[in-house]
Amino acid sequence: MKTICITTTKGGSAKTTNTVELAGALATYNKKVLCIDVDQTLGLSQYLGLRMDPQQRKEYGIGTSLELLTGNASISDCIVEMGAIDVICGDERYEKAPNFFLDEDEDKYLLKNLMKQIENDYDYDYVFIDHGPQNDIIKKMALIAADEFYITTMISDIDRNEAKRAIDAIMKLQNSTDKLVHGDIKGILLSATIGKSLKEFALEDLEEKIAEYKEKQNVNHDIPIYNIPQSMAVKEAQTYKMPNTMKHKSQTVSRVYYEIADNILKGEN
Ligand SMILES: Nc1ncnc2c1ncn2[C@@H]1O[C@H](COP(=O)(O)OP(=O)(O)OP(=O)(O)O)[C@@H](O)[C@H]1O
Ligand SMILES: [Mg+2]
Repeated sequence: MKTICITTTKGGSAKTTNTVELAGALATYNKKVLCIDVDQTLGLSQYLGLRMDPQQRKEYGIGTSLELLTGNASISDCIVEMGAIDVICGDERYEKAPNFFLDEDEDKYLLKNLMKQIENDYDYDYVFIDHGPQNDIIKKMALIAADEFYITTMISDIDRNEAKRAIDAIMKLQNSTDKLVHGDIKGILLSATIGKSLKEFALEDLEEKIAEYKEKQNVNHDIPIYNIPQSMAVKEAQTYKMPNTMKHKSQTVSRVYYEIADNILKGEN
């Protein structure tokens, strides 16, 4: 089982979209995939059709990832089978995360420990953790739990350095004295909304940062930059409650996610 976290330092950078679409591509390859939503906005849960309020969840007996992490639900209470992909829902109460996780030194390992339990008791090939935009203990838990990272970034006129900051943040945790993060960066998912020449500058910068990461962290594998096109179909995927990679497999945008999935599968051998 591999735990993947698509991450960055900023909100609205297509974390959830890329998570669901890549999960969809891997599921299409007959891999058993679980997506865990640890965001207070329940973005991933809703993307996959689980738009439930707390009352409805209670009625259906569906636990959330927060209830799981706080020992108030079992894994089997929380897993919702959505066809090709299984989901554990997010929870509005993550907004008050510090109230639930008072002992940060211990609690930061909760999600990592949960991954060990899931690996022992279930037969998932891939587990995706989708954190929200907050730089809080929940995000820390996600980064500590992950085996692999994909940095997602939307390069725009306003900010061309988000991916570089995210790589630095991962490096800092990897190099901390207690080696908090064991996961490795496997690729960059880039959506750009700027002109071609500015994008080339930004790409050059990013390549430099990737080279620095590889050298400092002794990484030998490639870290490809995947260009994710802007696509209406991806925006609309949320309305039909399944990944675009499962509904429109041959679209250009889906083919990029399949390329990433191919590389993930190659990494297994
Ligand atoms: N390839 C794409 N084409 C078109 N729109 C996209 C694409 N990827 C993401 N988006 C849109 O960008 C917006 C932000 O995406 P998303 O919710 O996935 O970001 P996020 O990083 O998960 O946000 P948050 O930090 O709030 O969790 C959404 O409206 C989404 O539909
Ligand atoms: Mg999100």
